[in-house]
Amino acid sequence: MARCEIFAGNWKMYKTRQEALDLVRGILAGISDIGGREVVVFPPSPWALPVSELCRGTKVSVGIQNMYFEQEGAFTGEVSPLMVKDAGCRYVLIGHSERRHVFGETDEAVNKKAAAALKNGIEPMICVGELLDEREKGNTNDVLKRQVEKALAGVTAEQMKKVVVAYEPVWAIGTGKVATPETADEAHDFIRRVVKDLYGAGTADALPILYGGSVKPDNIAGLHAKENIDGVLVGGASLKAESFLNIICVK
Ligand code: 13P
Repeated sequence: MARCEIFAGNWKMYKTRQEALDLVRGILAGISDIGGREVVVFPPSPWALPVSELCRGTKVSVGIQNMYFEQEGAFTGEVSPLMVKDAGCRYVLIGHSERRHVFGETDEAVNKKAAAALKNGIEPMICVGELLDEREKGNTNDVLKRQVEKALAGVTAEQMKKVVVAYEPVWAIGTGKVATPETADEAHDFIRRVVKDLYGAGTADALPILYGGSVKPDNIAGLHAKENIDGVLVGGASLKAESFLNIICVK
C-alpha cells in the first residue's frame, strides 16, 4: 500500500541562529520536484519559531526535538506542548536514543510525551532502536516490541493516523555504520507486525516507519528501495543543504 514518505533532518545541538536560517533557506531553494514526499526539519528549540516562519506555506514542515508532557508549570528548562504548537511545529521527536541513553528517558516518559503530543495536535515521531549489545545477544525484536508497545499504551487507532515511528538502531547513529537495507527492512517489518497485533492491519499498513542511523547520499538509494522503509530520519547528513537535498531527491 502507498504510505506517505517522510524525509526528516534532525539537527541535534548544532547550528547558530544564522546558520539554521541559512540551512533552511538552502533547503527551500533546492527543493524542486519531490512529488508527494514530505520534508521535515528539527532545529534546536530556540530556532523553532524563526525556522517555522521561513517554512510557512512551503513544502517543509518543522518539528521540535523533545518536549515535556505537562501543559505548564514549575519545570525549569522544559518546553511544553502548548509552546511547541505556538512555535509553529507540526512534529515532535519522542524518545530519540540520545534522550533515552544520555538523559535517561524511560519508556514511561516516552509514552506520556507521545500522549501529550497527540492531545495537543502535535504529531509524535516515536524513535525506537536496540543497542549493539542487545542486537548481538539476539534481543533486537524483544527491545523493539517493548519500546513500541510501551510508547503506544493508551493511544487509540484514530490517534495512530498521526503517529510516525522511526527505527534508529543505536549502533548506527553517528557511527557511519548504516544498517543494511535488509536489516532495516526486517526491523521495520517486525515493528509493523507489532502494530498490527495492537491495532489491526489497516493501521499497521498506513503507519510510516522511517529509518535513521548514518543515512547519507551514497546509501539512501538502497534503503529507499525497500518496501517497509517509508522515509528516513537523518542526522549528520542533514546539516548541509546539498547533502540533505541529495537524500530528499533520491530516485
Ligand atoms: P546520524 O545520521 O548522524 O547517524 O544520526 C541519526 C539520528 O540520530 C537522527 O535522529
